[in-house]
Amino acid sequence: MLERGLRVLLVASECQPLAKAGGLGDVVAALGKALARRGHEVRVVLPLYGWIDPERVAARLVGPLRVPMGTGDEGAAVWSARLDGGVETVLLEHRRFYDRPQIYGDPGGDDAWRFGFLSRAALEIALEAPDVPDVVHAHDWPSAPATAYLAHLRESRAPLAGTASVLTIHNLEYQGRFAAAAWPYLGLPAEELASERFEDLGGLNLLKGGIASADALATVSPTHAREMLTPPGGHGLEPFLAARAADTTGILNGVDDELWNPETDALLPRRYSVHDLRGKSACKRALQERLGLEPRADVPLFGIVSRFAPQKGLDLLIAALPPLLEQGEAQLVVQGSGDAGLESFFRELAGRHPRRAAARIGYSEEMAHAIHGGADFFLMPSRYEPCGLGQMYALRYGTLPIVRATGGLADTVVDAASPGGDGTGLTFTAPTPDALGAALRRAVECWYVRPSLIARLRRRAMAQRFSWDAAAARYEAVYAAALAKRGRHGVRRSDTVSGAAAG
Ligand code: ADP
Ligand code: GLC
Repeated sequence: MLERGLRVLLVASECQPLAKAGGLGDVVAALGKALARRGHEVRVVLPLYGWIDPERVAARLVGPLRVPMGTGDEGAAVWSARLDGGVETVLLEHRRFYDRPQIYGDPGGDDAWRFGFLSRAALEIALEAPDVPDVVHAHDWPSAPATAYLAHLRESRAPLAGTASVLTIHNLEYQGRFAAAAWPYLGLPAEELASERFEDLGGLNLLKGGIASADALATVSPTHAREMLTPPGGHGLEPFLAARAADTTGILNGVDDELWNPETDALLPRRYSVHDLRGKSACKRALQERLGLEPRADVPLFGIVSRFAPQKGLDLLIAALPPLLEQGEAQLVVQGSGDAGLESFFRELAGRHPRRAAARIGYSEEMAHAIHGGADFFLMPSRYEPCGLGQMYALRYGTLPIVRATGGLADTVVDAASPGGDGTGLTFTAPTPDALGAALRRAVECWYVRPSLIARLRRRAMAQRFSWDAAAARYEAVYAAALAKRGRHGVRRSDTVSGAAAG
């Protein structure tokens, strides 16, 4: 029994504000802070990407690191920065791998080497610490191999014998599938190249290897934890996930209240709360003016902030959206990038209706906040969505989400027509333009015909709390289960923590 906080090493390819391509970056940062607030000693291992300036984040050089890869030792350097929230961020410097303008490379590039190295280096970082971590917690395919490295290093490196591993799956579409050419470099034992482990159709699958090795698994919503056990939710990995179902927990992500709170959000032109929504009207007007839209309070403004990936179902809007704009019943603002066809669809739509639609192609954290603050409805018609953060931010900002009821979207948004009278947005089921079109028409009709319903939905939406503290408490239970696999039963955190963890 341990009368102290756990030592947790989070290993990830993203952690905001230093590196973010999607929700993974938000989650790693917020989970780290929430665990630290609950009394755990948290460190995050992240590559020192080219755009991260160690001086600007006040990082100190800890020293050089030798990492034994399969083809020989690889040199690196380790920096340490303490970002807000008390979490130590360990930055792994390896110029050839990480001094690039993007987090992920093109398929066919050297990402297997880059992230295999991150996974293996994290274990050397764990060993260099005065006290090794109790838990190594990997996220998605880029750090999944860390769980396999740990499984084998436990035999040769005694301090790691009691360290448990946890793998959180954020997105099964991205599995880290590579040609077998990287295998010798990774330096994992030959038995790991089995079809139920890292081998996949003659190549490598880094996520699959991690699924086989982790002591415990998590994914980012309860509904997705069930969905991923059957096709198409498992993206081909369902048999391997089903084999680990007893060790898998669905834990809904939270909302980082320090970053996403309309009462304090410095990126909004005006702040507001559920008690006084005048600020939200001001945010809408400011957004309309900035985008060149007609500054009308009476027309509903639909917002989108998203990667333009097939997962997000934005193609369903191609048929459903134009009629609303043509009839002047709605306005639209889109922020995002990705699929070239969707980029030009939104650009052309905005070109055709410059006073009713605006398309911002690219990435802007600031515009994302402005849209959450200024829009009336937030669109997320995802084909699948393990958790989804956009709809949770939208709820908090009183921007009613219109979502397909899948994964985390089904766990967080209640339809306006819910018999329990607890609606917070609009949901639809079939992944078709017709079903989405019907949901959009329902939203527009509610807006014009039932303003009191809109006000009630908005109040309930803004009262929802998706707490990272609750999520961190559930991760504590996952850590305890993983530690039990290592023979460490009844692991108890410090007094202040254990009470909360029991709840
Ligand atoms: P995913 O991780 O699948 O992209 P999530 O909803 O979990 O989906 O998280 C997406 C995160 O990325 C949110 O914080 C969202 O605001 C942000 N985001 C996505 N696209 C953009 C963009 N173009 N500009 C700014 N933020 C974006
Ligand atoms: C993934 C998923 C998204 C989830 C995010 C953070 O990218 O697509 O649904 O919210 O990870 O867990």
